Amino acid sequence: MKKINVGMLGIGNIGTGTYRALEQNKETVESRTGLSIEIVKILNRHPEKDRGIDIPKEKYTADVSEILDDPSIDIIVELIGGIEPATEYMLRAMKNGKHVVTANKAAIAANGEELSRTAMENHVLFRFEASVAGGIPIINSITQALTVNQFDEVTGILNGTTNYILTAMTEFGRDYKDVLKDAQAKGFAEADPTADVEGLDAGNKLSILTSLVFGMKVLPEEIPTNGISSITKEDIGFAKDFGYKIKLLGSAKQDGKEIACSVEPALVPNDHPLASVENEFNAVFLTGNAVDKLMFYGRGAGPLPTGSAVMGDVIEVSRSIAKGAAFDEVPLLRYDADLTFIGEGTSSYYIRLDASDIPGVLSAVADSFAEQGISIKTVLQRANSDSSQDAVPLIFIVHKTDRNMLNLALESIKKISAVREIKNVLRVLDEEA
Ligand code: HSE
Repeated sequence: MKKINVGMLGIGNIGTGTYRALEQNKETVESRTGLSIEIVKILNRHPEKDRGIDIPKEKYTADVSEILDDPSIDIIVELIGGIEPATEYMLRAMKNGKHVVTANKAAIAANGEELSRTAMENHVLFRFEASVAGGIPIINSITQALTVNQFDEVTGILNGTTNYILTAMTEFGRDYKDVLKDAQAKGFAEADPTADVEGLDAGNKLSILTSLVFGMKVLPEEIPTNGISSITKEDIGFAKDFGYKIKLLGSAKQDGKEIACSVEPALVPNDHPLASVENEFNAVFLTGNAVDKLMFYGRGAGPLPTGSAVMGDVIEVSRSIAKGAAFDEVPLLRYDADLTFIGEGTSSYYIRLDASDIPGVLSAVADSFAEQGISIKTVLQRANSDSSQDAVPLIFIVHKTDRNMLNLALESIKKISAVREIKNVLRVLDEEA
């Protein structure tokens, strides 16, 4: 049986999950592939740390050169995370003729072009299934099974931590801060949750999807990004009354020669498949011009689901090695489409205001929308049960408009003296999606 040697950089959560996924299923992998795949060396800078897994000590090294420069190693699996030194290690491995598999969304979002070019120049494969939506095989599906399709939109729940928090807020009517604390105590959210709750993690994933689906380079820092920390139980409650659930969506859309991208909390109609994605689960929804609508659903994080995706790539690369492939493929990530990035683009929106309960407020706000050509779809005014408060919540859902036009309308609404505060503005997922 042909043997494939793998060197792994990092033995944290994903590293232990990858090792376990292979060890638990070694015979299955051998019988399905006819190959003996072995993780022969592991970069571990803290060998004293208990990883809760039984790995022979001789596999560990603290010296990355023992892996990157070892001619017997065929594939490098990079799982140390962060942009550097991960990118440097991957480039060095490729220049040494090694195929590279990674789960590192930040490094790909920042340096995908250089990594892809270097892989091509050195006739090696570069694979990164685990970088987007963990265990869901979305990258393989887009780049293999669905290659014939043109897509006009990809929209996903790409972050499990925020979906867990929003689900708990929706189910139990609780405040964001309470639920976040709980999620941290249960290990569903990091001690520093910024990357997840402010949408940065989803932004890296959306940047990768935009390159795969549209061939367009949009860096995470260029994507209009809003996290979930501004969502209140009031927003969740009003969304529910209107027949929606609030979800953090990463979305990229093509319209003619233009691409719009955003990461932001949005109202998702209850009958849209994304509305049923709860707790820490991820999902990616897309529509191909041949296949029509598809939704992929599964675990976007966790050692074994992510390890499953990493091993899927390792096995694909191993099969190509065994076949004696030429390794001169066109990179999966593409950055050459003749398209213009336009920011957030157009959408329907939810706007929540606090206003004084006096004559003429509603018509003044409606006039501000009308001046920008924005059509109101739904309006709701709730009488305040607390008679000592004369401010009442006023909620609008407006039909599809350009975000810039909405901003102009909001500027004019802020100047209406009876409007106390614009509490929140959220995207509403297109009805036709
Ligand atoms: N922290 C991410 C999430 C998983 O909560 O989905 C890794 O990307």
